[in-house]
Amino acid sequence: MEQINQALERARQEHMRNLKKVANTSLSKKMNNISIAHKKEITYTKTRAIPVQNLREKRIITNQQNSISDAYRILRTQILQRLHEKDWNLLAISSACSGTGKSLTSINLAMSIASEVDTTVLLVDADLRAPSLDQHFGFTAEFGLTDYLLDGKPLDEILVHPEGVPRFVLLPAGKAIENSSEMLSSFKMKNLVDELKHRYPSRIVIFDLPSILNSSDTLAFLPNVDTTLMVVAEGGTKEAHLKRAFELLQGNEVIGTVLNWAYTVDKDHAGLNLKPGWISRIFSKLGKKI
Ligand SMILES: Nc1ncnc2c1ncn2[C@@H]1O[C@H](COP(=O)(O)OP(=O)(O)O)[C@@H](O)[C@H]1O
Ligand SMILES: [Mg+2]
Repeated sequence: MEQINQALERARQEHMRNLKKVANTSLSKKMNNISIAHKKEITYTKTRAIPVQNLREKRIITNQQNSISDAYRILRTQILQRLHEKDWNLLAISSACSGTGKSLTSINLAMSIASEVDTTVLLVDADLRAPSLDQHFGFTAEFGLTDYLLDGKPLDEILVHPEGVPRFVLLPAGKAIENSSEMLSSFKMKNLVDELKHRYPSRIVIFDLPSILNSSDTLAFLPNVDTTLMVVAEGGTKEAHLKRAFELLQGNEVIGTVLNWAYTVDKDHAGLNLKPGWISRIFSKLGKKI
């Protein structure tokens, strides 16, 4: 009997030791995660803050409450739901032809996502022929993606974040280049996108791309991302162009379509076949101030 009691006591002590070990391991994992999070924070704060002003006049949403920011919030919710469902975080934004509002949609979607406390956004200007995101914010970027791809400029010296917009980092395009298709489909670009995907799991990376019918850039780059959002301009995008763009997109994931420049919020859009994956009708025309 005594022996049995001793054996039980030994087993109990062994069990307690194991419990402590498990607790210590998960504590050290937690500490590790905290230090990783801390490191991430340091990397983030190393990005240069750029003063930006009068964003609303530039049609960029801030934290105002109105029907325009509500419409972007609806778009954000639909996009995030679809991305989370599939465990995706790389989103390309394109359109059939240019001038449909791709860049503005990229910016406002990114602004809206960044306003969610637990998600950060990296917005990449991947329109290397006609860079514009810095101009949309009202500044001229000194360096950009092309400096990283061509000259090996470190990203830390390129990334900027608009002052007063937390959780939002911008990778400008840099100087415009001619051979952008080769650049966008290069190994270096692929590796960069892979790194961006895995480095910050709670970060959504949005790529503002050129239109599909004007160059081969977008189709060359799309294999790098998880999915694409198409921007369509009401009264601007022609049915035949949209059809051709969707044909060219075959084999690539399309998360949905945004109708920009919509005349009214509730008017059903006549004529355009917006399949596949209709997402959101945005917006009543954005006025000068939104
Ligand atoms: N819904 C809208 N209402 C008003 N202006 C818009 C709207 N969408 C885009 N714009 C403006 O139209 C111009 C072209 O938009 P942009 O996003 O640069 O197009 P893209 O990137 O497709 O060439 C910009 O000046 C932008 O601010
Ligand atoms: Mg653009």
